[in-house]
Amino acid sequence: MAQKTLLNGRVLSFTGSPFEVEPTEAVKISEAVLIEDGHISAVADADSLRSDHPDAKVVDHGQNVIMAGFVDAHVHYPQTAMIASWGKRLIDWLNTYTFPEEMKFGDPAYASEIANLYLGLTTAHGTTTMCSFCTIHPESVDAFFAAAQQRNQRVVAGKTCMDRNAPEGLRDTAQRAYDQSQALLENWHGIDRLSYAITPRFSPTSTPEQLEAMGALWAEYPHCLMQTHLSEQTDEIAWVRELFPETRDYLDTYEKFGLLGSNGLYGHAIHLEARERDRLREVDAALIHCPTSNTFIGSGLFDMNGLMRDGHRIGLATDTGGGSSFSMLRTMAAAYEIGQLRGTPLHAAQLLWLSTVGSARTLRMDDCIGNVAPGMEADLIVLDLASTPAIAQREACADDLWEAIFPTIMMGDDRAIAEVWIAGQRVSN
Ligand code: GUN
Ligand code: ZN
Repeated sequence: MAQKTLLNGRVLSFTGSPFEVEPTEAVKISEAVLIEDGHISAVADADSLRSDHPDAKVVDHGQNVIMAGFVDAHVHYPQTAMIASWGKRLIDWLNTYTFPEEMKFGDPAYASEIANLYLGLTTAHGTTTMCSFCTIHPESVDAFFAAAQQRNQRVVAGKTCMDRNAPEGLRDTAQRAYDQSQALLENWHGIDRLSYAITPRFSPTSTPEQLEAMGALWAEYPHCLMQTHLSEQTDEIAWVRELFPETRDYLDTYEKFGLLGSNGLYGHAIHLEARERDRLREVDAALIHCPTSNTFIGSGLFDMNGLMRDGHRIGLATDTGGGSSFSMLRTMAAAYEIGQLRGTPLHAAQLLWLSTVGSARTLRMDDCIGNVAPGMEADLIVLDLASTPAIAQREACADDLWEAIFPTIMMGDDRAIAEVWIAGQRVSN
C-alpha cells in the first residue's frame, strides 16, 4: 500500500484570485493535508483526516504555514555563478558578465555542476518549479533536464537561441536553432515532469530569419510554451527599433514571425505601448514580472496594478542572475516595493498568489502545481514565520495571519523554509 503522510499546520490554499476578490477572502486556512502517491489527496481538519487514515505517518508543524512550493516563472540557471555582478545596465551587463559565463556551458560537466548547484540553492529557498533559459549549447539543456529529472522536479527549460549581436561561440543559425531546439524538445518534452519551452533570447540577438524559424517550430508544437524577453529597458527598445525598422513596436518583432500567442511568456514587459498591452491581452499571453532584476539592472517599474486590472495573466520571477536573489520571498518583497513606488502596494495574499498560482497559470500548469488542493501534485513548503530574531519579534506582535506572514515576506530567506516536499517526498536540505 502507498505510503500516506499527514502534514498538520496552518495549510494555506487559494480558493480564488486575490486580485479579483478581497485578498483575504481568496485564501482558506485548513489544519492538515494528506499526501499519497506524490499527490495531495485531501485537505481538511486534522482529527478527521487522522481517523480516516490511521495508517498515515503524521508530521506536526504546529503554527508553521504549509503552502504550495514557489513557482519561479523566468530564470537563467546558467547565470548562477555571476549573480550580483556590479554596475552595468542591460546590454553592457549581457556583454560584460553574462555572455562570458554562458560560454562555459558547452562543457557538459560544468553545465551539470551548475544545474545541480542551482537546483540545490533554489530548493533550499522553497522553489519547486521554475522556467529556465539555458544557453545556446544543447549540453546546457540536457544537463538541466537530467538534474531536474533526478530530483523529480516539474521544470520548464529551453535552448536559448541567438544568431547575431552575441560573441562567436554563442551564436547558432536559424537552421541550427530550429534543428537543435526540435531535437531537444522531442527528447525531453513530456518526459516525467519535464517540459520544453521554445526559447529565442530576445529580438536583438536573433535575425528575422531566426525568429521566423522559431515561429515555424512553435507552429508545429503549439502546446509547448515559448519564452522570451520584452521591453525591459528603454535603450533596448530603441535598439530594437533600429534593428527592425519595419515593425510597429517591440512586440511586433515577435508577432510578425509567429512568436505571439497564448502559450507565450514575455519576461519583464515594463515599457509597453498601448497597442502592445492590448495585443498581449487579446491573445492571453503571459507577462512575467521580475522585480529584483528590474531594480538591480535599473530597468523600470512594472505596472502590476494596471495590467492586472486589464485582465493580463501575470507571473512572478527571480530572473536569476539579472535578478539579485534566488529567493521568491525576496522577490515578493521587491514586487511589494515596486508597488509602493507606483502607489499601489500589494497585499501579502496577492504576493503569495503571484509566486504560486499566478506563476503556475503563466506556465499553464495551475491544474497540477501552485496550490494545495486534492489532486494537485504534492510540491509543498513549510514556512517558519519566526525564522530569525528580527522576524520573530515582529511576528510576535501580529494580530492576524497576514500581519504574521508579512515580515517573513519582507525579511525572510532560506532560513524561513523549514521543509520542502517535492512530488510527495521530503527533500533534505
Ligand atoms: N534580455 C536578454 N537576455 C537577458 C538576460 O539574460 N537577462 C535579462 N534580465 N534580460 C535579458
Ligand atoms: Zn531573463
